[in-house]
Amino acid sequence: MTRVFSGMQPTGDLHLGNHLGALVNWVRMQETADVTYCVVDLHAITMAHDPAVLADRTVGLAMQFVAAGVDPDRSTLFVQSHVGDVHAQMTWLFDAVAGVGELQKMPQFREKSEQAAGRNGQVTAGLLTYPVLQTSDILLYDADEVPVGEDQRHHIEIARDIGGRFNHRFGEVFVLPKAIFPEAAARVMDLQDPTRKMSTSGESDKGRINLLDDPDRILKKVRSAQTDSGREVAYDRGDKAGVSNLLEIMAAATGRTIDELVDEYADGGYGTFKAAVGEAIVEMLRPLQARHAELVDDPGEMKRLLAAGADKARAVSAPTLQRAKDAMGFLPAA
Ligand code: AMP
Ligand code: TRP
Repeated sequence: MTRVFSGMQPTGDLHLGNHLGALVNWVRMQETADVTYCVVDLHAITMAHDPAVLADRTVGLAMQFVAAGVDPDRSTLFVQSHVGDVHAQMTWLFDAVAGVGELQKMPQFREKSEQAAGRNGQVTAGLLTYPVLQTSDILLYDADEVPVGEDQRHHIEIARDIGGRFNHRFGEVFVLPKAIFPEAAARVMDLQDPTRKMSTSGESDKGRINLLDDPDRILKKVRSAQTDSGREVAYDRGDKAGVSNLLEIMAAATGRTIDELVDEYADGGYGTFKAAVGEAIVEMLRPLQARHAELVDDPGEMKRLLAAGADKARAVSAPTLQRAKDAMGFLPAA
């Protein structure tokens, strides 16, 4: 069976873009593959982070995964630092194979180191070796496929390069993974600026539907979404970016086609259309929010799920690490 691995950083609450662009796919992949999903908290400390919120965000992200349909019985769901000894040790071994030059060339390293320098912060070694830790995540679980956003393309390529180099030097230990990108349609745009992706770092919260926003807030955000000065509901990414984004969101939320939606709402005015889009989002998120509320009410349950997830993750990754150490010629401990 195909093995899938993916991870997300606990940097804030999830939004509709994360849901339609990533989570829906993660949940679907459980049907056909052996999946492992990880809250990558060790990655989250590479930019200045707030120790007071790290733990809450970590468990919060795991809760949102489960609420969205990641099933801990059918998948392995775990927190990276709970298996941190394995991931960090693997990273050290890969550090001996990765080149400083290739790490310095990573687009994310360039971007983030500029950001850090701009804030008078330090460009940490962790920022440079971030992709090596990500390589460990993926290769420790023998992943064949890694579903990620386009921005992660280089990180999956370097994982293949590092794994391939290791295999070449020390023998075949690692499976070389392939990136899986969501369809173009799964790109959700900011409601206030539909030329930009909806994102956690987006300027205003008004442009972003958070998965845990209450229904009134969602309806209000959609009502005030930016559209054009026309009247007709039509699909045109160029001239009607705002309306087109809402059409795509509604199609994803209802399972109906864009053509059907255009037929139904073309002449009814933007107000009626936006109300329907808002309702569709509220309905799509209703079960997710209900499951989330149950999890919040029972914090012991999430702890238990994550402890079991860490055990399952360790049972796969610790033997892989041992194979790598054996291949590299370390003296066995016993
Ligand atoms: P990020 O929070 O940007 O690290 O993204 C986590 C996951 O959500 C990645 O797989 C992204 O590709 C996906 N994602 C984030 N924002 C969007 C968006 N606006 N539309 C579609 N997918 C998104
Ligand atoms: N770097 C990824 C991101 O920012 C998160 C990540 C860490 C990841 N380890 C991973 C994604 C392994 C896929 C597989 O989105």
